[in-house]
Amino acid sequence: MSITVTRNPNPQSPPDGDYGFGQTFTPHMFVMDYSDGQWRDARIIPYGNFSLDPAAKVLHYGQEIFEGMKAYKNGEDSSVHMFRPDKNVTRFNISCERMCMPQVDPKLFMDALNQLIDLDREWVPESPNALYIRPTMIATQVGLGVKASTDYIFYIIIGPVGSYFAGGINPLRLRVEEKFVRSAEGGTGFAKTGGNYAASLLPIQQAQAAGYDNIIWLDAKEMKHVEEMGAMNIAFVYEDRIITAAAGDTILNGVTRDSVGILLGDRGNNWVEEPPNIAQICEDAHSGKLKEVFACGTAAVVTPVGVIHYKGADHQIADGKEGELTHDLRVTLTGIHAGNSEHHPEWVHVVPVFENV
Ligand SMILES: Cc1ncc(COP(=O)(O)O)c(C=O)c1O
Repeated sequence: MSITVTRNPNPQSPPDGDYGFGQTFTPHMFVMDYSDGQWRDARIIPYGNFSLDPAAKVLHYGQEIFEGMKAYKNGEDSSVHMFRPDKNVTRFNISCERMCMPQVDPKLFMDALNQLIDLDREWVPESPNALYIRPTMIATQVGLGVKASTDYIFYIIIGPVGSYFAGGINPLRLRVEEKFVRSAEGGTGFAKTGGNYAASLLPIQQAQAAGYDNIIWLDAKEMKHVEEMGAMNIAFVYEDRIITAAAGDTILNGVTRDSVGILLGDRGNNWVEEPPNIAQICEDAHSGKLKEVFACGTAAVVTPVGVIHYKGADHQIADGKEGELTHDLRVTLTGIHAGNSEHHPEWVHVVPVFENV
């Protein structure tokens, strides 16, 4: 399917200064409709509101999925590139399947990303800022009743975001969530669907009111093993191994997590996927066996954890500062993002320049 382009007649210029996160969007967006069993009318149009019937299914039953990825500018030649976008496209279609939504052809998905980013290329900020990319699908069929929609909109919006580390590296203070759970076996934890995030708002709000940055999620069955951190994956560094939860039904299989595992393998480190036991982790923090803890995800790349609160006590990780491995991984990954690294050139997708758009 080809993509038609309608240029914004009054495009704004990119703003200067601190972008924050998710506040500013470029003058264009990609949109495509699904009805009668097929996708149609793939188009890039001026950024703007949708008109939705109040009875649209997404507004009642949360049939919605999204992705989060970034494009970066290369400081030397100003080329623009995405980091492993194929992984996000695949994960999007996995989310589609779980949420009973029609998949998007990966080639069309990539064409849409390439053309939209190229059109608004001047909005890709200098490193360490980046262009955030939010592909989304919503159920638009009109009518109440719990049933998969027949109609959908797939759209992509993009906008500049600031660096998570603008204020410096501040190791996270995390509270283990001992009451609420994020996901259970057979649930939707591996899908990137809005309901998972809606359900996380209350526990995160409570932890923040108690002075913590975010929460650590435990498994729903036994409340013993660490699964994720807020909206990031998390790993525990020991002398001889780095432990993280296996990517199964209950965790979001992060692109950063996967990349970190590969980079650690390259270095000869032992990346082990096994359930991290929270009681043992706290004990090992005290004995000094636990060397570092880091969270990883597109937003914050690799970020250190300084304190874990569990069963009424704060447990400091080593000296509470960023560890060496966490630092090295972040530098390596941000180097790959910025296009300044020898590591894994196959992870860098250069956004082509289209002549006649
Ligand atoms: C729940 C959750 N876990 C983990 C991640 C990290 O995934 P990624 O590295 O693909 O950004 C995210 C971010 O999308 C997330 O929302």
